[in-house]
Amino acid sequence: MGCVKLIFFMLYTFLFQLVLSSSLPHLCPEDQALSLLEFKHMFIINPNASHHCYNMITYQEIQSYPRTLLWNKSTDCCSWDGVHCDEMTGQVIELDLSCSQLQGKFHSNTSLFQLSNLKRLDLSYNNFSESLISPNFGEFSSLTHLDLSYSSFTGLIPSEISHLSKLHVLHMGDQYGLSLGPYNFELLLKNLTQLRELNLYSVNISSTIPLNFSSYLTNLYLRYTELRGVLPERVFHLSDLESLDLSRNPQLTVRFPTTKWNSSASLMKLFLYRVNITGRIPESFSHLTSLHELNMRYCNLSGPIPKPLWNSRDLYLGDNSFDGRLEFLSFNISWRQLYSLDFSFNSLTGPIPSDVSGLQNLQSLYLSSNHLNGTIPSWIFSLPSLNTLQLSDNHFSGKIQEFKCKTLFEVDLRQNQLQGPLPNSLLNQPNLKFLDLSHNNISGQIASTICNLKTLTALDLASNNLEGTIPQCLVEMNENLSDLDLSNNSFSGTINTNFSIGNYLTVISLNGNKLTGKVPPSLINCKYLTLLDLGNNQLNDTFPNWLGDLPDLKILSLRSNKLHGPIKSSGNTNLFPQLQIMDLSSNGFSGNLPESLLGNLQAMKKIDESTRTPQYVSGKFAAEYDYLTTITTKGQVYNYVRILASNMIIDLSKNRFEGHIPSIIGDLVGLRTLNLSHNVLEGHIPASLQNLSVLESVDLSSNKISGGIPPQLASLTFLEVLNLSHNHLVGCIPKGKQFDTFDNSSYQGNDGLRGLPLSKHCGGDDQATTPADLDQEEEDSPMINWQAVLMGYGCGLVIGLSVIYIMLSTQYPAWFSRMVVKLEHRITTRMKKHKKRY
Ligand SMILES: *[C@@H]1O[C@H](CO)[C@@H](O)[C@H](O)[C@H]1NC(C)=O
Ligand SMILES: *[C@@H]1O[C@H](CO)[C@@H](O)[C@H](O)[C@H]1NC(C)=O
Ligand SMILES: *[C@@H]1O[C@H](CO)[C@@H](O)[C@H](O)[C@H]1NC(C)=O
Ligand SMILES: *[C@@H]1O[C@H](CO)[C@@H](O)[C@H](O)[C@H]1NC(C)=O
Ligand SMILES: *[C@@H]1O[C@H](CO)[C@@H](O)[C@H](O)[C@H]1NC(C)=O
Ligand SMILES: *[C@@H]1O[C@H](CO)[C@@H](O)[C@H](O)[C@H]1NC(C)=O
Ligand SMILES: *[C@@H]1O[C@H](CO)[C@@H](O)[C@H](O)[C@H]1NC(C)=O
Ligand SMILES: *[C@@H]1O[C@H](CO)[C@@H](O)[C@H](O)[C@H]1NC(C)=O
Ligand SMILES: *[C@@H]1O[C@H](CO)[C@@H](O)[C@H](O)[C@H]1NC(C)=O
Ligand SMILES: *[C@@H]1O[C@H](CO)[C@@H](O)[C@H](O)[C@H]1NC(C)=O
Ligand SMILES: *[C@@H]1O[C@H](CO)[C@@H](O)[C@H](O)[C@H]1NC(C)=O
Ligand SMILES: *[C@@H]1O[C@H](CO)[C@@H](O)[C@H](O)[C@H]1NC(C)=O
Repeated sequence: MGCVKLIFFMLYTFLFQLVLSSSLPHLCPEDQALSLLEFKHMFIINPNASHHCYNMITYQEIQSYPRTLLWNKSTDCCSWDGVHCDEMTGQVIELDLSCSQLQGKFHSNTSLFQLSNLKRLDLSYNNFSESLISPNFGEFSSLTHLDLSYSSFTGLIPSEISHLSKLHVLHMGDQYGLSLGPYNFELLLKNLTQLRELNLYSVNISSTIPLNFSSYLTNLYLRYTELRGVLPERVFHLSDLESLDLSRNPQLTVRFPTTKWNSSASLMKLFLYRVNITGRIPESFSHLTSLHELNMRYCNLSGPIPKPLWNSRDLYLGDNSFDGRLEFLSFNISWRQLYSLDFSFNSLTGPIPSDVSGLQNLQSLYLSSNHLNGTIPSWIFSLPSLNTLQLSDNHFSGKIQEFKCKTLFEVDLRQNQLQGPLPNSLLNQPNLKFLDLSHNNISGQIASTICNLKTLTALDLASNNLEGTIPQCLVEMNENLSDLDLSNNSFSGTINTNFSIGNYLTVISLNGNKLTGKVPPSLINCKYLTLLDLGNNQLNDTFPNWLGDLPDLKILSLRSNKLHGPIKSSGNTNLFPQLQIMDLSSNGFSGNLPESLLGNLQAMKKIDESTRTPQYVSGKFAAEYDYLTTITTKGQVYNYVRILASNMIIDLSKNRFEGHIPSIIGDLVGLRTLNLSHNVLEGHIPASLQNLSVLESVDLSSNKISGGIPPQLASLTFLEVLNLSHNHLVGCIPKGKQFDTFDNSSYQGNDGLRGLPLSKHCGGDDQATTPADLDQEEEDSPMINWQAVLMGYGCGLVIGLSVIYIMLSTQYPAWFSRMVVKLEHRITTRMKKHKKRY
C-alpha cells in the first residue's frame, strides 16, 4: 500500500512540475543565462572596487553591494539583480552592474558581448583593473545607454563606440588615462546623432570641438579633457541644453553669443572654471532665466561687476580681474536665491555695502584677496545660515561682531586690520572646523570656552596681540585638531596644555611668545606631529631628546630660548627618523656637539634628487598631498611641497658647543644648510664634509677652528654660502670651482689664512691683509617660514579625501560643488599667501 502511495505521490509531483514548467516557461534564454554567469565568474568580488559610488540622479552616495553574488542556475536570470528582460521576447535588454564590487580584467572575448539585444548597460563604479575598452562594445547596436565611467578602464576609447548610433547617454568619465583623440572624437559626435548626455570627464581628447554634434544634447560634461580651439557658438544654441561643464580646459577659448541664446531658458548649470574667456560678461547673460549655478572662476574676466542679471543660487566668479565696488549688493532686488557668492581674488575696492537685505539664505561668502576696506557690516554677522566666511587679505578694520548663527564651518579673516577681542559667539559654534584670524590686531585673552569647539581642525591665531595663558584644555578636549598656530602673540606662562593621548595634531607653532617653563612632556602623545616650533620663547629646560621618539617629526625649532646643558643621547638609535630641519640656535646648549644624535638622523642620510618627480612630505595627510597635485597640476603647491621635502637644515649656532666637529656629519648627505657658527668649537674642519654633495650653505664662523681648509671642499658644486670667518684657520685657501666665488668676508678674522681672495698670497709675498670687518649677523640667512608652508596644507586638506570623489564626479549637487570650490579656495588662498611671503 505504502508503495503505491509513494508512486502516486511521485507521479503527482512529476505531473505538477510538468504543468508548472509548461505554463511558466523560463523567460530568460538559456544561452543568455550562461553568458551572464560566465561574465560573473570573470571577476572577483571586492568591496574596495566600488567605494564612493554615487547616484547620478539623486546625487547621493550609494552603498555598494555585490549584485552578481546570488546569480545562479536554479533561478530565472530575468529575476537576477541588475538584469532586466523584455517582457514579450524574454531577451535580456538591460544590465545594471554599477557599483557591484567587481574586480578583475575585462577581456575582449567576454561572453557579455553575446547579449546582443542590450539597450542599457551600466558597468560604472567597478574596478576593471586598467583593462582596455573592447572594440566589441560597438556591436551592441541597440544600446541607448552606456555607462563605463569610474571603472578603471584605460587606453584609447575605440572608434567602434561611434557605431552605437542610437545612444542617448554615453558616460565614460574616469581618471585612469582614457584617451580619445581628435579623430575618434569627431566620429563620435558626428555619428551619435541622438545623444542627450555625454560625459567624458578626464578623458584626454586633445582636440577642438567639431561642429557636427547632436542637437538633442542636454548635458555636456567635458571637464578636464584638454580641449583646444574655439568653442562652437552652436553649443549655446542647443535649445535643450541644461548643463554645460567645460571646466579646466585652459586652452579652450569661449566667446559668448552677444544675442539671446537658444538655450537661455533651459540652461541651469554653467561651469567654465579655468577656460580661456577673457573680457566682460556679455549682456546676453540677462536672458539666462533658469541658471542657478555659474562657475567662471579663473577666466580672466574683467571690468566692473556686471549687473546682477541672474537668479543664481551659486555664483563663483573668483580669480578674475573684476574691479569696482560691491554696490550691486544693495540694489533693490531679492537675493533670496543666493547660497554662495564668490568674488575672491579680484580687484574690488571700497567697503562692503551696509544696507544689504534679503540674503537670508546665503551660506558661503568668499571675498578674500581684494582691496576691500571699512568695517565688516552687521548684516554679515546676522546671516542665519552662514557657514563659510572668507574675507582674508583685504583691509577690513574695526571689531569682529558677535555672530548670530550657529552654522559656521569656516571663518577666514586673516590678514586684515581687525581689532578687539575674539567674539564669544565664535567659540560657541558646534560645527566650526577652520578658524583663521591670523595677521590682525586681535587682543585680549583666549577664553577657555574655546575648548567647546570640538570639531575644530585648524586654529590659526598667529600674529595678533593675544595675551594671557594658553588655555589648558585647548588640546586636551579636542580630538580633531590638526593644526594649531598661536605664534607671534604675547602668550605667557608655562605651556601647561595637556596633549592627550590619541590626538591628531600635525602642526604646533607657538613661536614668538613669552612662554616659560619646560617643553611639555605630553607632546610625546602627538604621534602625528610633523612640525613643532617653540622658537623665540623663554623656555628653560634641557634638550627634550624624547621628542626623537615622534615618528613623523620633520621640522623642529627650539630656536632662541633658554635651553641649556649638554645634548645627551639616549640608548635609542632611531631617534628623529624623519627630521629634516633642526633649529636649536640661540640657546645655552653646551658640551660636545651631539655626535650620536647627528648619527641618528636617517632622513638626512638620503639625497632627494627628485627635482622632476618630487617626493611629498608624507604622514597622515599624504593622500591629500597627492590629491593636491592632481588638482593644481602645474600650480605652486607642487613646488612648495617639493621644497619642503628636499630641504634639510641643521642650525646649532649661537650656543656654547665645544670640542671638535664630528666627522659623522659627512653621513648626512642630504644636508643643504649647516650652521655651527658662534660656538666654541675647535679642532679641524672634517674632510668628510666633502660628502655633502648638495650642500648650499655652510657657516662655521666665530669658533676656534684650526688647521687648514680641506681642499676637497672645492668639489661641493652647489655651495653658495661659505663663512669660515673668525676662526684660527691657517694655510692656503683652495682654488677652483665654488671657491672662486667667495670673497673676503668668508675668511676674514683668520690670521693664518692666505691665498685668493685674501691679499696674502699663498707661498709668496706676505702683504698685510685689509679685512673689511663687515661682521654681519646671520640673521638674514634664509630661515624659511616652514610652519607657514605646512600650515597651508594642514588646514586646507582635512576634507581632501572626501572631496576626491567629487572631482571625479560629473553631476554633483550644489553642496558638492560648493565644497570643491571651498577646497580649491583654500588651496589657492594658501598658495598665494605663501607666494607673498617668499
Ligand atoms: C581593501 O582596502 C583596504 C585598505 O586599503 C585593505 O586593507 C584591504 O585588504 C582591501 N581588501 C581587499 C579585499 O583587497
Ligand atoms: C540562488 O538564487 C536564489 C535567489 O536569488 C537564492 O535564494 C539562493 O540562495 C541562490 N543559491 C546559491 C547557491 O547561491
Ligand atoms: C579570453 O581571453 C583571455 C586572455 O586574452 C584568456 O585568458 C581566456 O581564456 C579567454 N577566455 C575565453 C572564454 O576564451
Ligand atoms: C583594482 O584592481 C587591481 C587588481 O586587479 C588592484 O591592483 C588595484 O589596486 C585596484 N584598485 C582599487 C582602486 O581598488
Ligand atoms: C556611423 O553609424 C552608422 C550607423 O548609423 C554606421 O553604419 C557607421 O559605420 C558609423 N560610422 C562610424 C565611423 O562609426
Ligand atoms: C593627451 O594627448 C595628447 C595627444 O595624444 C598628448 O600630447 C598629451 O600629452 C596627452 N596628455 C596627457 C595629460 O596625457
Ligand atoms: C554633419 O554630419 C552629417 C551626417 O553625418 C553630414 O551630412 C553633414 O554634412 C555634416 N556637417 C558638417 C558641417 O560636417
Ligand atoms: C534657435 O531655435 C530656433 C527654433 O528652434 C531655430 O530656428 C534657430 O535656428 C535656432 N538658432 C540657432 C542659432 O541655432
Ligand atoms: C585666449 O583667447 C584669446 C582671444 O580671446 C587668444 O588670443 C589667446 O591665444 C587664447 N589663449 C589660449 C591659451 O588659447
Ligand atoms: C587677460 O586679459 C587681458 C586683457 O583683458 C590680456 O591682456 C591678458 O593677456 C589675458 N591673460 C590671459 C592669461 O589670457
Ligand atoms: C577705502 O578705500 C578707498 C579707496 O579705495 C578710500 O578712498 C577710502 O577712504 C577707504 N576707506 C576706509 C574706511 O579706509
Ligand atoms: C632656569 O631655571 C633654573 C631653575 O629651574 C634657574 O636656576 C635658572 O636660572 C634658569 N635659567 C635661566 C636662563 O633663566
